[in-house]
Amino acid sequence: MKEVVLSGIRATGNLHLGNYFGALSKFVRMQNDYDCLFFIADLHALTTHPDPKMLHSNVKNILAEYLAAGIDPEKATIFVQSDIPEISELYLLLNMHVGIGELMRTASFKDKARKQLGIKSDSDDIEKEIIGNESNKRVNAGLLTYPTLMAVDILIQKAHKVPVGKDQEQHLELTRRFARRFNSFYGVELFPEPENFNFGGTPVKVPGLDGSGKMGKSEGNCIYLIDEEKVLRKKVMRAVTDEGPKEPNSPVSQPIQNLFTLMELTSSPETLQQFRDAYADCSIRYGDLKKQLAEDILRITLPIRERILDIQNDDAYLSRVVRQGAERARERAAKTLQEVREIMGIRKF
Ligand code: ADP
Ligand code: TRP
Repeated sequence: MKEVVLSGIRATGNLHLGNYFGALSKFVRMQNDYDCLFFIADLHALTTHPDPKMLHSNVKNILAEYLAAGIDPEKATIFVQSDIPEISELYLLLNMHVGIGELMRTASFKDKARKQLGIKSDSDDIEKEIIGNESNKRVNAGLLTYPTLMAVDILIQKAHKVPVGKDQEQHLELTRRFARRFNSFYGVELFPEPENFNFGGTPVKVPGLDGSGKMGKSEGNCIYLIDEEKVLRKKVMRAVTDEGPKEPNSPVSQPIQNLFTLMELTSSPETLQQFRDAYADCSIRYGDLKKQLAEDILRITLPIRERILDIQNDDAYLSRVVRQGAERARERAAKTLQEVREIMGIRKF
């Protein structure tokens, strides 16, 4: 039996290079060797983006982008999270075994809550700051229980491997903890403990073009798979740099390291080495580096962009894919949910 792989991306906009290298490209590589399920996390999107006008089109975007990047619905199950009502029920049940303290200590919760409340401090007492803040109604319970919902996505399919970027590792750690806790509380061996998957390498963190450490939708520093050629070139040419190395073998500053990291992902090793050498002997011209980088990114994104444009208006095809996917994913989810109900003592008369 093949191991089960599951992963998803929130429906909050278009996919960028961070999503591509951190997640999507791994999905595509895994689909031949594993029993894969890939989904669009529209319920998770509601924790921060409750926008009825945009939600459906965001789901559609990601679906078209999954397919355009090469996920094959004949090989992998592709579905939309909200098409599986069993997920919502298990979310309720699993929440009975999740502590509010551990949820409040989750880094992603603290970050998002801080942002929503405009709290600048990095204090460890963020829990107190949130509880004491007058506007804390804005921090919704769905955001707090985000890790429970994510754990359910994974556990309901009994997944072994979850390909995600580095920023999701804490959520995976919680998933393993919840699985262990459930299994040991009820004395069962129901849920496997899932792990991240990176083809033997370390998880990647794709940097932004603004000199920051992470490319992310909310950071506004993204290169999107759907970006037009001209737009993409312009973004890369505007990337933050520094004044250039003043003496041979100078340490590399963060913004330049970011460009090298992007090159590592998109350019040939020879090209990268050439620019690293040029940096070391101070002959580097950042304009040339950026031009080359734009070229190498476009080689990856342009063919995907073309396929996105082809697929995104084919409503009949898109709905066929998700209907078939939902059927497969639901069958498996229903089976797990039934096992959980029995284990927890929920019986029908
Ligand atoms: P964003 O941070 O832009 O909102 P998501 O949180 O929706 O993106 O991330 C979806 C997937 O893409 C996750 O697996 C996440 O780890 C991965 N990912 C997002 N940004 C990056 C990045 N900069 N580097 C590596 N992986 C990333
Ligand atoms: N939390 C993930 C993110 O922000 C999205 C996600 C939701 C997910 N449920 C999942 C990823 C289950 C992997 C498995 O990117």
